[in-house]
Amino acid sequence: MFDSLALLPPDSILGLAAACRADSNPDKVDLTLGVYMDETGLCPVFEAVQQAQRDLVQEEMTKVYMPPQGDAAYLEGVQTLVLGEERRALLGDRLTAVQTPGGCGAVRLGAEVIFAAAPTATVWVSDPTWPVHIPLMGSVGLQFKSYRYYSAAIRGLDFTAMLEDLEAASPGDIVLLHGCCHNPSGVDPNAEQWQALATFMAERALVPMVDFAYQGMGAGLSEDAAGLRCLIDHIPEMIIAVSSSKNIGLYRERAGAVIFLGGDARAAEAMASQAVSAARRVYSMPPAHGALLAGRVLSSPDLRSQWAAELAQICQRINGLRRDFCDALIAETDRDFAFISEEHGMFSFLGLSVEQAQRLRNDKSVYVLDSSRINIAGLNAGNMDRVVNAVSAVL
Ligand SMILES: Cc1ncc(COP(=O)(O)O)c(C=O)c1O
Repeated sequence: MFDSLALLPPDSILGLAAACRADSNPDKVDLTLGVYMDETGLCPVFEAVQQAQRDLVQEEMTKVYMPPQGDAAYLEGVQTLVLGEERRALLGDRLTAVQTPGGCGAVRLGAEVIFAAAPTATVWVSDPTWPVHIPLMGSVGLQFKSYRYYSAAIRGLDFTAMLEDLEAASPGDIVLLHGCCHNPSGVDPNAEQWQALATFMAERALVPMVDFAYQGMGAGLSEDAAGLRCLIDHIPEMIIAVSSSKNIGLYRERAGAVIFLGGDARAAEAMASQAVSAARRVYSMPPAHGALLAGRVLSSPDLRSQWAAELAQICQRINGLRRDFCDALIAETDRDFAFISEEHGMFSFLGLSVEQAQRLRNDKSVYVLDSSRINIAGLNAGNMDRVVNAVSAVL
């Protein structure tokens, strides 16, 4: 039966990371994966999470299934983190949330709910967007169109073009937005642009779906949520896909949540019920460990403030690396790399051609994607000069 089954190639990003692992050059640098790495190249476990884990191991009495909707402390913690206490209280039972296997699970369940409500709706995605969005949501049956977003010519967001393209959207269409730290470009709307987008979408009855995978890694926990909160103040219905992989460091534990804002409590409950039912069709109950840890971190005042301080340090380090990398590139190449210090989160495009990106990998053992997207957090004091010299050499 499976003798002639097609053998599929690895995912393009994971394939490059594997190629880097196989490279015998001791000075190789992996800037491909979207994983935070510290100065030693390690993706660390937050100390607040380690403490929560010790406590959980002591206190856990059962491994019985999680409730289908997920862990109550985690879901409450995530909603407050994303929306802030005031909006969380104000919106009350117009909000529901379902725990998911990571942010991918949240995007997927969000798509399932959209498809159940409006199977012919179009989802508008930024050009470019995270490459997993389309297979993850498209396999539900949704259709896509793209709106212009990152402009290589201006090395930034072409907001006019974005709105021009979204003029063609119909009422009830979904606009997929990155809440902060746009992956792959690192380019986010500014405060005025979020405001303009909120008004624009409200006037045209467009529904936002916000992928929120990097809260706290761009400018800070509340700063990074400002755009999404601005949308919520203007628009009655919304879906937010949250990942706890990066900002709580739970990558392999698969902790995430999808938050639903309904026009009223009944709608919000219906959205959550559809998500739970979609999960039941595929994997049944969500995984426990990561969400139980995050629930403990977010609900304990001590652990929460310890975690927030650790996250703030990560954010500062990323922004420090951005400044150092930008300065070093400008000094070495005499070209304008100022955009690197202005972008947010872990990703930026270097602005190289595919051929230059390939030469970086093949000749210099510096692994970047073909699009020249790099993970800034893969840089450190030990490899920064090497990367700068390699970029300069291929330019
Ligand atoms: C934009 C974006 N959304 C969602 C995710 C989902 O993350 P996870 O499923 O690992 O929590 C990622 C992870 O890289 C991402 O970059």
